[in-house]
Amino acid sequence: MVKVDVKNSKSFTDEALFDKYLNKALEAFDVLDAENGAGNDFLGWKHLPSQTPSRMIADCEAIRDAWKSKGVDLVVCIGIGGSYLGAKCVIEALSHNFARELRRKDAAEVVFAGNNLSEEYLAELMDLAEERNVACIVISKSGTTTEPAVAFRIVKQFLESHYGKQEAAERIVAITDAHKGALKTLSDQEGYKSFVVPDNVGGRFSVLTPVGLLPIAVAGFPIDELIDGAKKAERALEVKSKDNPAVVYAAMRNLLFQECGKSTEILVNYNPKLTYVAEWWKQLFGESEGKDGKGIFPASVNNTADLHSMGQFIQEGSRIMFETVLHVDNARRSIVIESDPQNLDQLNFLAGKHVEHCNHMAELGTRLAHVDGGVPQIEVSIETLDAKRLGELLYFFEFACGVSAYTLGVNPFNQPGVEAYKKNMFALLEKPGYEEATKAIQSRL
Ligand code: PA5
Repeated sequence: MVKVDVKNSKSFTDEALFDKYLNKALEAFDVLDAENGAGNDFLGWKHLPSQTPSRMIADCEAIRDAWKSKGVDLVVCIGIGGSYLGAKCVIEALSHNFARELRRKDAAEVVFAGNNLSEEYLAELMDLAEERNVACIVISKSGTTTEPAVAFRIVKQFLESHYGKQEAAERIVAITDAHKGALKTLSDQEGYKSFVVPDNVGGRFSVLTPVGLLPIAVAGFPIDELIDGAKKAERALEVKSKDNPAVVYAAMRNLLFQECGKSTEILVNYNPKLTYVAEWWKQLFGESEGKDGKGIFPASVNNTADLHSMGQFIQEGSRIMFETVLHVDNARRSIVIESDPQNLDQLNFLAGKHVEHCNHMAELGTRLAHVDGGVPQIEVSIETLDAKRLGELLYFFEFACGVSAYTLGVNPFNQPGVEAYKKNMFALLEKPGYEEATKAIQSRL
């Protein structure tokens, strides 16, 4: 199970203060448990792991197999925010680093679109699609988000012109609201296979719904193991205790923020496969806590690479941050450094050692240096980076996020601030219905 260790933060506080924050986190735990806090109509994610019907897993796998039998080798997965980051982070974490270069054919390649409005990106996606056998998963809970809607219009037209309308409909799966929205209407009209994003699950908590599960299954990864891991975490974290890892994490990060002025949290990894876990985590915590003038700014670094770019700042710059180190106990592959008779690089002292041993020593050395430099640390560790442990980790962060946001005193499950840019964008694009806003914004230019 996911472990949390806060010993490298304790020198920045004292036991009594930590105990006070543990008690606050336990009160927040009660609110989440009793489901009587702000945003409590968005708690569907809490029991997703234990309540995922095996039918849903089978349905995702059936789509993977049907597309495979058509020879589909490229799946364009369209979505933004919570409608893409979960799938992206799991696929990146479980994929071979060089799967693309190795041209592995065991599963379709999943690429993402609808998460930006770059014309170059979409044009180059079409270049790729021209070379491949293509299908599409389009995900939008609201069905009205501009970025995925624009991308889907282009991909849909591509599929219809290349395969014909009927075959295109068999190559499109829509994941959206059960009852409303443009994507729901289109999907019903065109007869696409579709999955529902439950009403009570927000985008950033949706990785264990079809939003995450279908793209992950299509990419060839075992969604049953992901769910099993999450189920294990669900059972472990429902126990009210000062040792509950989600309570410990929520308590210490709130203490560091509220008592020590640490307003930035850096999620640190030592494995490039975790880069998008950090991106997913940033949305989860940023969108859940950053409101009402409150919240810890979530940032991330990928070490050891970023030690050579951000390391200086973390060691000696403004003392505004603490680190949460995502530690993985065991690598899944093995390379031992061999002795070299010439030893020109003077590395023979490492002969016989695993590369991961060096990675762990780099991690340990950095962590101690950062504590000495005034950067408190929390360790979140998993045994290895496989589907099961990843399921545990994702559920752990979701649960901890709920406890932490309630400890901070905000509603973890809304995101009112996301609308502000949309209003301006629609006004600038002269969307019908925005005439007054268009006049107002144009006068500011
Ligand atoms: O967390 C959220 O709810 C948002 O970030 C959404 O995931 C994002 O805006 C995409 O929304 P939708 O799925 O409705 O297109």
